[in-house]
Amino acid sequence: MALSTQPYKGARDFYPEDKRLQKYMFSLMRKAAEQFGYEEYDAPILEPIDMYLAKSGEEIVNDQTYLFQDRGGRNVAIRPEMTPTVSRMVAARRQELAYPLRWYSIPNLWRYERPQRGRLREHWQLNVDIFGVDNLLAEAEVIQVADAILKTAGATHDMYTIRLNSRKLMDFIFTDYLQLDSVQIHMISKLIDRMHKIEREDFIAEADAVFTPSQRDAGASNKLIGLLRTKNLDHLPEAIRHSGPAMELKELLHTLKNARITNATFDITIMRGFDYYTGIVFEIFDENPNNNRSMLGGGRYDGLVGLFGVEPVPTVGFGFGDVTFQNFLQGHDLLPPIRPETDVYIVLIGSTYAKAQHVVEDMREMGVRVAVDITGAKADKQIKTAVKKGIHYAMFIGEKELEEEQYEIKNLMTGVSERHSAARIASIVQDYRGDSD
Ligand code: HAM
Repeated sequence: MALSTQPYKGARDFYPEDKRLQKYMFSLMRKAAEQFGYEEYDAPILEPIDMYLAKSGEEIVNDQTYLFQDRGGRNVAIRPEMTPTVSRMVAARRQELAYPLRWYSIPNLWRYERPQRGRLREHWQLNVDIFGVDNLLAEAEVIQVADAILKTAGATHDMYTIRLNSRKLMDFIFTDYLQLDSVQIHMISKLIDRMHKIEREDFIAEADAVFTPSQRDAGASNKLIGLLRTKNLDHLPEAIRHSGPAMELKELLHTLKNARITNATFDITIMRGFDYYTGIVFEIFDENPNNNRSMLGGGRYDGLVGLFGVEPVPTVGFGFGDVTFQNFLQGHDLLPPIRPETDVYIVLIGSTYAKAQHVVEDMREMGVRVAVDITGAKADKQIKTAVKKGIHYAMFIGEKELEEEQYEIKNLMTGVSERHSAARIASIVQDYRGDSD
């Protein structure tokens, strides 16, 4: 039986046109992150499993992490997320680094998930994190970076919503308002995290199973459901509304508004799966009715760096995946035509390869990306190849052209041909590229 040509389940092959699209998305991400002063870093895809056992959350470690033993008997994980890794890197140089650190990376991550729309087993995820700031301006800034990416992509505020909540607010609600113990809090948090994926009756049944009989009698489930319906901070019960965490959320919404971010709202159901979040948490939702899902998530996690045995560093960040970003761009018709990297396809007429070399080299030195057809095929076949590849220009080099130092350049999109020197052709191509970039 022939070997399968399919990639591994839930992972993608990137043919050049797919990779170009991904590169385009990465360029939007890089541009926005660097505009705000974030520096790119990277790290290995493998980490010791203990890193994730410490604080990521059960689901991701037990059910979703790819684990194996290396030849030396070490238990190794393929990173399911970047946050523990970047925290390790910061911890390793805790003393030397200049805070606040603004770092970003676009790693590929592996999670053993059931592949579905928006969820794969391998994805690339922009991570934007700021280390060393313990006030809300850090949250506001990373949210601004996320917003800038979407705006640079051509999105408008009606296309997405930034939803904010706070782990501290939820802790206050669970502990002071609902009087739950730590085991109950953990279970209810995970349940709320899943609430949009399950039926309302199942939610109530599962919540009731967590409450004690006396809590149940006191109407804890109804109290909880009532709270989870609250869409506005001002509509929360008074004791909660005046709490520190609620005021903090209000202040953040206000700061964002000042930064012209008008599509941020409070959403009490945003829990975030990871255990390490300690304060504000947020997600950005695609408002496309056909794809109304979370596409980016993050929050404050002040304790992770300290887990590596150093003085803790307050940190805020988010992850934004390429799969959800692509769905967003496609759903809102925001993808521009993405042209191949090659600017010019050289069509050789006759046996001119050797003589044409200096012209080709000159073009490359002038910054033009040039592919030479070296098949020896007939000219029309060579042109067909260029057209099929989507290359914008074909340049013809034959004996006569070399003698006259004038070459035919054909715009394969319009069919228009002109004759020019190599230098002139280089500048035409660069003008075109400048306009389309
Ligand atoms: P997360 O919510 O697990 O957070 O992932 C963040 C984003 O990565 C998601 O909103 C989605 O865009 C993308 N993503 C996650 N899993 C998949 C998947 N299986 N397939 C496709 N896309 C996916 C984190 O990973 C946190 N470590 C983010 C963070 C950084 N928090 C602070 N700093």
